[in-house]
Amino acid sequence: MKKTIPKIIKAKHIGFCFGVKRAIAAAEDLLSKHKRTCSLGPIIHNPFVVERLSKKGLKVISDIKDARGKCMVIRSHGIPPALKKKAQEYCTEIFDATCPFVSRSHKIVSKLRKEGYHIAIAGERRHPEVQALIEMAGSGTLVITKKSDIKKIRPRKIKLALIAQTTISRDIFVEIAEALLRLDYSEYRIFDTICNDVVGRQKEAKALARRTGVVCVVGGKNSANTKHLAEICRKGGASTYHIESADELNPRWVKKALSVGVVSGASTPGDIVEKVVEKIKNIIL
Ligand code: F3S
Repeated sequence: MKKTIPKIIKAKHIGFCFGVKRAIAAAEDLLSKHKRTCSLGPIIHNPFVVERLSKKGLKVISDIKDARGKCMVIRSHGIPPALKKKAQEYCTEIFDATCPFVSRSHKIVSKLRKEGYHIAIAGERRHPEVQALIEMAGSGTLVITKKSDIKKIRPRKIKLALIAQTTISRDIFVEIAEALLRLDYSEYRIFDTICNDVVGRQKEAKALARRTGVVCVVGGKNSANTKHLAEICRKGGASTYHIESADELNPRWVKKALSVGVVSGASTPGDIVEKVVEKIKNIIL
């Protein structure tokens, strides 16, 4: 009997997104000129990249006071305005690598605040991008992570505006938007500020979860967009494994699979994904 050759289907969206590439290039450039360079929080949500840059001298700080006398690269997630002001006071040089898509959200939120909207952010409260948006949106800002959070909301103003964290799952954003429309506001504005790169990866993850029985999602365990890819694959019915590198891949997960999909987050280096694909090939082919 002819043996069926298992398939490995790698997503087309592999490697860093534009904003992550830009932040890493900025950090490397600053490091080539100044040894005392820091980032407030990890520059991206991938432990291997953070470690590589730390070997070159990039110091990850958690308290803005530790930026005194150093150069700073502001990561692609952006930074709350009050912290940016402090950074300008303390640092000898700053490169602002806030992703232009995140900066666009900042502009939208500032304008909506001036126009008197009750602002709702669909995203994770503790994510640095959302932290900056909360500060810009002012007191009473709503942060909605999932549809059920909406039950607690009591309309405080006549008009409501909804904006998305750039890396949220688009399906969750649509669910939140639909549920908000059932509340008693008389005017709504909805801004789909989810990044195109993220949407592309989510669409591929959904399709691969349908086509394959097993999907390996490669990326930092602290990466919001990678975690959403894993959720999408699970919802799509695939056995889903979120791993940071090939070392974490357990051969048992893929050994008997007829097809295996591989997707990755926007902050996952392409070579790490290739190593995962190679390891799967060695196990199943
Ligand atoms: Fe920017 Fe999108 Fe990447 S918002 S940092 S290009 S995931």
